[in-house]
Amino acid sequence: MSQQLAVVGAGLMGSGIAQVAATSGWEVVLRDVTEEALGRGTAAIEKSLDRFVDKQKLSADDRDAAMARIRTTTDLDAVGAADVVVEAIFESVDAKRELFGALDDICKAGAVLATNTSAIPITQIAAATRRPEDVVGTHFFSPVPMMALCELVRGVKTSDATLQRARDFAESLGKTCIVVNRDVAGFVTTRLITALAMEAINLYENGVATAEDIDTACKLGFGHAMGPLATTDLTGLDILRHATLNIYNETADAKFYPPEILSRLVDAGVLGRKSGSGFFDY
Ligand SMILES: NC(=O)c1ccc[n+]([C@@H]2O[C@H](COP(=O)([O-])OP(=O)(O)OC[C@H]3O[C@@H](n4cnc5c(N)ncnc54)[C@H](O)[C@@H]3O)[C@@H](O)[C@H]2O)c1
Repeated sequence: MSQQLAVVGAGLMGSGIAQVAATSGWEVVLRDVTEEALGRGTAAIEKSLDRFVDKQKLSADDRDAAMARIRTTTDLDAVGAADVVVEAIFESVDAKRELFGALDDICKAGAVLATNTSAIPITQIAAATRRPEDVVGTHFFSPVPMMALCELVRGVKTSDATLQRARDFAESLGKTCIVVNRDVAGFVTTRLITALAMEAINLYENGVATAEDIDTACKLGFGHAMGPLATTDLTGLDILRHATLNIYNETADAKFYPPEILSRLVDAGVLGRKSGSGFFDY
């Protein structure tokens, strides 16, 4: 019998995780709070699968079989039979703790309770349950069907068995895992991208090189697909500033303190692509 996955939250990440799991043979229960949100999530999955069919990377039969493996619901009790639950609701520690408290009452013994949080300590979420050993971070990247990485994050009490089962799950979706052994702010990926972006912004602020040249250095010198300043524009200057302050607040490491120009650009509403300009114009 195929394993059952529950995904809680049918937004950008939840729908992507549900899609990849269903195409990988998992029976998926996708839960959101409204039928509208479930409808948006399902439509996004259909659209994405259609693109794979158009590119001849998936047969129409396999697309239909994947869609048939996804059951949607607004009833949280429906996740009770799942072997693995992935939470992908919005990034709020209170909302996630409330949800994990409820999952603790509903889920079967031994289920893996995973969170897709990008920044909240796994340990804080796990502490809302009576089974913190079963709670783990499975940090997927957007767009989930395209991005090969899953960052597995251990909370203080996450068991080895839970970490292994989370790895088995992510690998069954075709992802490559890295393990974050300590539940630090920013995990590994956000620490790396933030440190690089802060140094790029420092170099730019001090007039050492132009934005174009800083990004060209990373692209042609290091083989990065996109430079750190263009990446910051894509992510949003406000989002990056928030992420780096979060790490700074935990570590007091000066390299994570936002350069003044980043703060002033955010004050001015210069947020990157979404506002029409950032380090570059769009
Ligand atoms: N967007 C990204 O690029 C990205 C990348 C990695 C990780 N993450 C993390 O993944 C999580 C989800 O992000 P997203 O971008 O998919 O958010 P999103 O806003 O697209 O979707 C969140 C969904 O959760 C639903 N929801 C809220 N409370 C719920 C509840 N109690 N039960 C069920 N559904 C509920 C909302 O209705 C919404 O559909 C966040 O923790 C985020 O930090 C996001």
